[in-house]
Amino acid sequence: MNRPTDPHTLTQAATPVGTTEGYMPGFGNDFETEALPGALPQGMNSPQKCNYGLYGEQLSGTAFTAERPERTWCYRIRPSVKHSHRYNRIDLPYWKSAPHVVEDVTSLGQYRWDPVPHTEDKLTWLTGMRTMTTAGDVNTQVGMASHIYLVTESMRDDYFFSADSELLVVPQEGRLRFATELGIIDLEPKEIAIIPRGLVYRVEVLDGPARGFVCENYGQKFELPGRGPIGANCMANPRDFKSPVAAFEDREVPSTVTVKWCGQFHTTKIGHSPLDVVAWHGNYAPVKYDLRTYCPVGAILFDHPDPSIFTVLTAPSGVPGTANIDFVLFRERWMVMEDTFRPPWYHKNIMSELMGNIYGQYDAKPQGFVPGGMSLHNMMLPHGPDKEAFEKASNANLGPDKLDRTMSFMFETRFPQHLTEFAGKEAPMQDDYIDCWESLEKKFDGTPGKK
Ligand SMILES: [Fe+2]
Repeated sequence: MNRPTDPHTLTQAATPVGTTEGYMPGFGNDFETEALPGALPQGMNSPQKCNYGLYGEQLSGTAFTAERPERTWCYRIRPSVKHSHRYNRIDLPYWKSAPHVVEDVTSLGQYRWDPVPHTEDKLTWLTGMRTMTTAGDVNTQVGMASHIYLVTESMRDDYFFSADSELLVVPQEGRLRFATELGIIDLEPKEIAIIPRGLVYRVEVLDGPARGFVCENYGQKFELPGRGPIGANCMANPRDFKSPVAAFEDREVPSTVTVKWCGQFHTTKIGHSPLDVVAWHGNYAPVKYDLRTYCPVGAILFDHPDPSIFTVLTAPSGVPGTANIDFVLFRERWMVMEDTFRPPWYHKNIMSELMGNIYGQYDAKPQGFVPGGMSLHNMMLPHGPDKEAFEKASNANLGPDKLDRTMSFMFETRFPQHLTEFAGKEAPMQDDYIDCWESLEKKFDGTPGKK
């Protein structure tokens, strides 16, 4: 084999692809980035003195001894101990954590909600978070919560981090900026972002009002699902995930940091912005992903595959094949199956399924499940197409058919989901949702061959 011995025969990219817009491509890569030249130590993590007088600090997202540790080295103006002082407990009454069972709210049932409307209230990322369901236990780091956010106001000298969870953010309306310790993520509908546990950030409104969904993951981090026989391509491709390049501010103003810790909220006062990381390297970082790059794979002859075939991200539970959370996407796709009832089939599931509509119409529920709306089919509760969808799909001429203008998702967890008081009493629940199956009729009369 001939090897080039002269390096000048190799062509090298002048600028790494993807860095020009402020993001670096790849899922879980070991990135390195610096906002000032030479700020990042090379060949070691802890030099005796860091360049620019920066402090070196590690952010550990997994145990040191994890099989594949996820951690990031930060080189910052002040160490994080200077971004923390005495804590004072505060209450964010709409942001709940598991275990949270409300006495007079029944979680057993099939539920659907219209979009939670905006109000005149000025709401930030923190005050505008509305918990819909909780599952598992935040103290033992299992389970999740689902939230709706309604945000009209930017956080200014206010910052936040959750020690409890990573947040999977699914915008439905408006544009938000997540200014984090590790860089800036701008987010709009049809994109998602993951904000890691422990990362400090503030949220600014770029285009409001903003509404969307959040999956708060108490457990192991989201990862890409194993594709198995699908092979190395399609579904969510790693290169379509983008982490921000380093960005920092050196701002000395009275500031507040709010911390979510074991389901409780506390604030601490400091005299400067904590977004002071000048350079970093590592594999524990915020990331965004454009759902329009998700390449769906499906049935090309007959039958309707399990929805797991549309898994974008999965958060393991420790039991192989049984996720703490799966994030599943139902987007535009062709339906070509022959002699097949094409919509999702009727079923009961040990997993509990919380769905949200980002835009368009969902094929199993042509009416009532609208953009911004949610539905919950809890553990072992039957569900499936309504009468209209059943009749249409049972009698359609089955040519190639494109499901167009549709994007819904599911947060599916192995744990039952409990409704909050807000979900049961304040949010616009559709009281008649259960009636969508009422008109399904008995067709059986014992006649063989009848269809
Ligand atoms: Fe289902």
